[in-house]
Amino acid sequence: MTLNVKKELEQNTLTLEKVLTSIWELISDGAVNSNKPFHTPVIGTVSNDSAKIRTVVLRKFDLEKLLLIFHADIRSNKIQELIENSNLSWLFYDPTERIQVRILSTAIILTEGELFETQWNSNQLMSRRCYTITEKPGTITKFPSSGIPNQFVERLITESESELGKNNFAVAASRIKSINWLFLKSNGNISAEFNFTENGIIQN
Ligand SMILES: Cc1cc2nc3c(=O)[nH]c(=O)nc-3n(C[C@H](O)[C@H](O)[C@H](O)COP(=O)(O)O)c2cc1C
Repeated sequence: MTLNVKKELEQNTLTLEKVLTSIWELISDGAVNSNKPFHTPVIGTVSNDSAKIRTVVLRKFDLEKLLLIFHADIRSNKIQELIENSNLSWLFYDPTERIQVRILSTAIILTEGELFETQWNSNQLMSRRCYTITEKPGTITKFPSSGIPNQFVERLITESESELGKNNFAVAASRIKSINWLFLKSNGNISAEFNFTENGIIQN
């Protein structure tokens, strides 16, 4: 990362602008680099008064629209929870940078349209295959099973066969409402908060 927080703090040159720019860099990098910790954040939904958490892959980040995107099966618990309550939290942590980023957002679930098509087309055949499972994800089975039809386990699924999964595919696009940034420091942690309005303008 380009921002050296420790050095900036020592030199008294750290600003909120620099922090925010470095957050965008970490998230943008996480969306395209599978070896970066920000590639696999934890997301939280609300259901029956409980926080439900799980890891997902950050598939896309749109800075202009402040959108964070992940993919899931439309039948999954997380998507059903988001349909009932669109509040979606994101948790990122990079142990090398010693930076935690917590984001509050509101999600919409897309099953058609331009963004949906782009994201479906961006999926590799291996990823598309996961959406061909016939039962709802998490269905209890007698024996351990991925739920993927046998013929697609034994050989690679073809492009046209993979289209079977499209009906089960969902894109969760969530708009950032606020960001909490934390830098771990042995002699005292530093945090910053950013809030965004409907127009994307920072409130503080
Ligand atoms: C590294 C990693 C990445 C994952 N990425 C996704 C993902 O992008 N989408 C998804 O639906 N599940 C993903 N999962 C699985 C979820 O964490 C979760 O176990 C599963 O989707 C069931 O969640 P739910 O019952 O809350 O819907 C991932 C798990 C791991 C460990």
